[in-house]
Amino acid sequence: MSFRIREYHPADTDAVLELWNTATSDGFEPVYGLAEVLASCQKDHAVLAISDDRVVGAAVARAAHEQGWIVFFNTLPEYRRQGIGSSLLSALEARMAPLGLTKLSILVPESQDESGVLDRAGFVDKNHLSYFERKIPISEKERSILGELGGRVLPRDLWSGIAGMQKEKEMLERRLVLPLSDPALAEKFGVEPPRSIVLFGPPGTGKTTFAKAVASRLDWPFVEVFPARLAADQKGLAGALRDSFTRISDLDNVVVFIDEVEEIAAQRGGEPPTALQGVTNELLKLIPLFRERPGRLLIVATNFIRALDDAFLRHGRFDYVIPIGLPDKTARESIWHRYIPPGSLESVDVTELVKRTDGFSPADIEFAARKAAQKALESAVYDDGVSVPTGPTTEDYLWAIGDTRMTVSGEMVGAFLEDIDALARL
Ligand SMILES: Nc1ncnc2c1ncn2[C@@H]1O[C@H](COP(=O)(O)OP(=O)(O)O)[C@@H](O)[C@H]1O
Ligand SMILES: [Mg+2]
Repeated sequence: MSFRIREYHPADTDAVLELWNTATSDGFEPVYGLAEVLASCQKDHAVLAISDDRVVGAAVARAAHEQGWIVFFNTLPEYRRQGIGSSLLSALEARMAPLGLTKLSILVPESQDESGVLDRAGFVDKNHLSYFERKIPISEKERSILGELGGRVLPRDLWSGIAGMQKEKEMLERRLVLPLSDPALAEKFGVEPPRSIVLFGPPGTGKTTFAKAVASRLDWPFVEVFPARLAADQKGLAGALRDSFTRISDLDNVVVFIDEVEEIAAQRGGEPPTALQGVTNELLKLIPLFRERPGRLLIVATNFIRALDDAFLRHGRFDYVIPIGLPDKTARESIWHRYIPPGSLESVDVTELVKRTDGFSPADIEFAARKAAQKALESAVYDDGVSVPTGPTTEDYLWAIGDTRMTVSGEMVGAFLEDIDALARL
């Protein structure tokens, strides 16, 4: 069988596509995607093998400084073992070497045995390498939408930064993260991934923290919507809220967060209706629309779930209504560990601190810990008689605990437990 090698022309796109399809038909996931390969055909360097007027092989590469990368290399199966591959590689090298390249590299999947042809073309197998890749979670266009909405991609480690709260974490991991991060698996089991949820519980228990951590865990951008603030918008608040949600719908994946939703979604019915009631009505209309598309999650948080409008929690609007309560002993211990500097952990009686902070929220513990740290720092620097500055002591912490007012009263805890009975949906 005779063949010749020539350069790529724009009219060859379909032929390259066919070669691409045969190369990837067995489920192999290539390092360079089709868009990358076609871009390199047009802008970089591509040579084709032609036999009987048919494109039967291609080699495509790009130069990155002194190193060239072959982004696609394939010959139709029935044309292999005739030297086409080696001819393509030498033609490519001949075209690219004058650019000042010192190296030409290619990544080959384990399953694909190209060692013969590559060896003949002078390539050395560096098989002790592993290949890693990370998908950049948002595109250029999405980045600008996010900018407009005041949203952002959060740091990767917020989830692991949540101390204690194992029960809540496990619950969110199973109900939200699992189906949302692997929708194909969820579908196999007939599980519909959640689209919107409510987090409720006393102030300072970590609702906002959890909402952000879920976004971070999913690697989805995080957009907080402030309906009450939209009230100031010239277009009218309902219109402004609608606009925000329209912009949001241009994002492939996103966690949308509305905090302290009771501010706007409190029981309606006052006469005359307030501006905020208009926002509530709009939000009630927007949630079902938001739920129509997968890959997005709306989280609303409230300290006073019983104040919410009945229509708000009606079935069909939220998949889960999840309580986030005060930390138990184990959780408090982890939270203390999180806030005591590592150098002082050994000398501080954490068990005592845990005992003395029954009823404290994570926010209260954080507050007390910071207060103790500040006091210890000040006395180490300004007080007489302190020779070697060490970290905060048990006494510093106990003093700070005594000086911190618990945010959540017994009454609030009682109400929260009632709310769990009446309204939680897990
Ligand atoms: N599990 C936790 N571990 C460590 N710090 C926490 C935890 N939960 C909350 N915090 C801290 O407590 C403060 C209040 O938490 P936040 O999420 O705003 O509570 P909420 O939204 O329920 O009122 C934040 O500064 C947060 O960093
Ligand atoms: Mg909050």
